[in-house]
Amino acid sequence: MFVENDFVCADFKIIPTFTVSCKAPSNIALVKYWGKFEPQLPANPSLSFTLNNCHTATQIQFKQKENTSDFSFDFLFEGKPKESFKPKLVSFFKRIEKYCPYLKNYHLVIDSKNTFPHSSGIASSASAMAAMSRAIMELEKQLNPTITEDFLFEKASFLARLGSGSACRSLKGEVVVWGKNKSVKNSSDLYGVPFGEMHSVFNNYQDTILLVDKGEKQVSSTVGHQLMENHPFAKERFAQAHENIEKLKTVLQNGDLDEFIAIVESEALTLHAMMMTSSPYFILMKPNTLEIINAIWAFRAETKTPLCFTLDAGANVHLLYPTNVKETVIQFVKTKLVAYCQNGQYICDELGTGSALL
Ligand code: DP6
Repeated sequence: MFVENDFVCADFKIIPTFTVSCKAPSNIALVKYWGKFEPQLPANPSLSFTLNNCHTATQIQFKQKENTSDFSFDFLFEGKPKESFKPKLVSFFKRIEKYCPYLKNYHLVIDSKNTFPHSSGIASSASAMAAMSRAIMELEKQLNPTITEDFLFEKASFLARLGSGSACRSLKGEVVVWGKNKSVKNSSDLYGVPFGEMHSVFNNYQDTILLVDKGEKQVSSTVGHQLMENHPFAKERFAQAHENIEKLKTVLQNGDLDEFIAIVESEALTLHAMMMTSSPYFILMKPNTLEIINAIWAFRAETKTPLCFTLDAGANVHLLYPTNVKETVIQFVKTKLVAYCQNGQYICDELGTGSALL
């Protein structure tokens, strides 16, 4: 297990140029991270499925520069300069400066693209920050070849966390836990750790994402997290997340899908209940989100198919189900649920193994 100081890179030898391409996926939390404190530490532990198809691919060219007093970079999104993303990157670089002092020796040309549709309402900050952090750690390995593979992944997750909390769960697969808790050995507030062996029913577990509303969220996650600070139910919620991690740990090992469904759907609705009971209160679900939830419940009661839903901080619905009922579920999506999706759009994804070099 690493502590914060281990991530301060003190020993490195600058090389003139280096180019790396890597990808990192999005992830969907089953136990939700909602509430944080400085420096981007979680108020409660969370657990997520790493996705496979929805990912960000990032290439970074590092070119040595003379002046090392500040950061210097160009950012291209899908081949075109994107100025609006720059302030977020500047604050990310400042946050990681202490841990990656070598970055100021380089001008970075960052070229990033997503596999999922642009502004689909799927948060791309997790995959983007994870891909960027992995690329930076590939540079660090060149500057200090003594670092181990474990260290590379854990520091990449640590850096990604400083960019966006949930991003720290996108470096590895297939299930990642972030946040110190007594149920998962080696769990840490500083970075995500892989959950480990699971029951075979979770092999290739499916996530079909129904795109209900692709518009900008009225309330960002950052603001939502802040609203947990004086939230009347915060203490109980944080305690519940610890309990749900413990219960889910058992379920992921014994494959009890009824219990899995109960925990996952309760977590999704609790997340939105926190939004509806904060001050100021807000609602991110849309009428069609509720239509879908009701349709899932009716379908499950009728067919006994172990299909459940989860939500992130938005109106889209993630359908989670084992791979052996894929055909039945896709049929249900096509005949019933697609009517509730914006422009009939949905994305088929499944459990994945995390970031990789390209
Ligand atoms: C509802 O990781 O997007 O998706 O740390 O401020 O960048 P920041 O927030 P972010 O929050 C994600 C919230 C969530 C739940 C989750 O992914 O655990």
